[in-house]
Amino acid sequence: MKKLLSLSLALLLAFTMTACGDASASEEAGKAGAEEQLVAGMVWYNFGDTFITATRNAVSDAAEGGNIKIDAADSQVDISTQTNNINNLLTKDVDFLTINNINPAGAPEYIAKAKEKDIPVIFVNCDSPSDEDLNSYDKAFHISSAAEQSGYIQGDLASQYWNENPAADRNGNGKMDYIMLVGMQGNYDSKMRTEKSVERVIENGIEVNLIQEALCNWQRAEAQNQVASIIAARRDDIDVIFANNDDMALGAIEALKASGFFADEDSYIPVLGVDATKVGVEAIKEGTLMGSSLNNPVILGSTVYKMIELLSEGKEITTETLGRTVSEDGNHIWLDYVQITAENTEDAEY
Ligand code: GAL
Repeated sequence: MKKLLSLSLALLLAFTMTACGDASASEEAGKAGAEEQLVAGMVWYNFGDTFITATRNAVSDAAEGGNIKIDAADSQVDISTQTNNINNLLTKDVDFLTINNINPAGAPEYIAKAKEKDIPVIFVNCDSPSDEDLNSYDKAFHISSAAEQSGYIQGDLASQYWNENPAADRNGNGKMDYIMLVGMQGNYDSKMRTEKSVERVIENGIEVNLIQEALCNWQRAEAQNQVASIIAARRDDIDVIFANNDDMALGAIEALKASGFFADEDSYIPVLGVDATKVGVEAIKEGTLMGSSLNNPVILGSTVYKMIELLSEGKEITTETLGRTVSEDGNHIWLDYVQITAENTEDAEY
């Protein structure tokens, strides 16, 4: 009896040990599984921005089919919030970092931090870090739309309208009097669009006169307010409105409509945007927004995800692997814009 008891005790003990062993083994496996879950920390300048929202959605869509988790942070248009977000994500040991940077001066520091952690860092839709900074780390990349193209598109469309419509010179001074609605101070897209649009009009042999440059932070409501006051002061002088993005162009259109423009052919003012957002394209179809250029968020968002995926597989980022043109030094990816007018709104579908 005693023998039987000790045997069953021994069996029980053996069983328990095996069970425990299994339990910890599966726990280990679980841990290993969790460790394999790669995470990309993504810092965006403003979750509330129309184009950035569309780009984030495109990243999420791409991530749905993949195995890299996205941990996104909103910098709320504030440099110190951006820095905190970057530090938090690095503390969480993310495997990749993407930065929609609003602090160009901080780029070398961000690259150095990523290098310290030995993780890839991708600068998205923003000022490029300098070549020197990018080349300081073989896992630093930059992807953005080639903003000067969107400026040239605006300049060409405005010139074409001017040349085809003698009444475009509303005050008859022989100059294209224009308003420039600027996105963000010092921002790469804003700088390029502001400069290149007007540069192109001048190249096309048209004299220009700036009525007012108004900083509207990419926002529709700000543009609407500012344009309303410019109309109040210079109603008869405005020939063209250039806006660094569609949201601001739509704000300008609201202000123009509210003061009687767009009522008939004689009260038309050409307004040009950038992005060709869904609402922007609606305005083109309606005949208020004259033109825009497609800044494709799906291409941007899905390419960012593809880059991360390639890097996670230890692959090189090349034109062949990525399916987008990669610069010779292997760290810049520039995406093209597509001109959109009433003639080709279908090209803005994504
Ligand atoms: C631009 C876009 C703007 C705004 C900006 C934010 O590319 O045209 O609408 O989203 O990025 O940096």
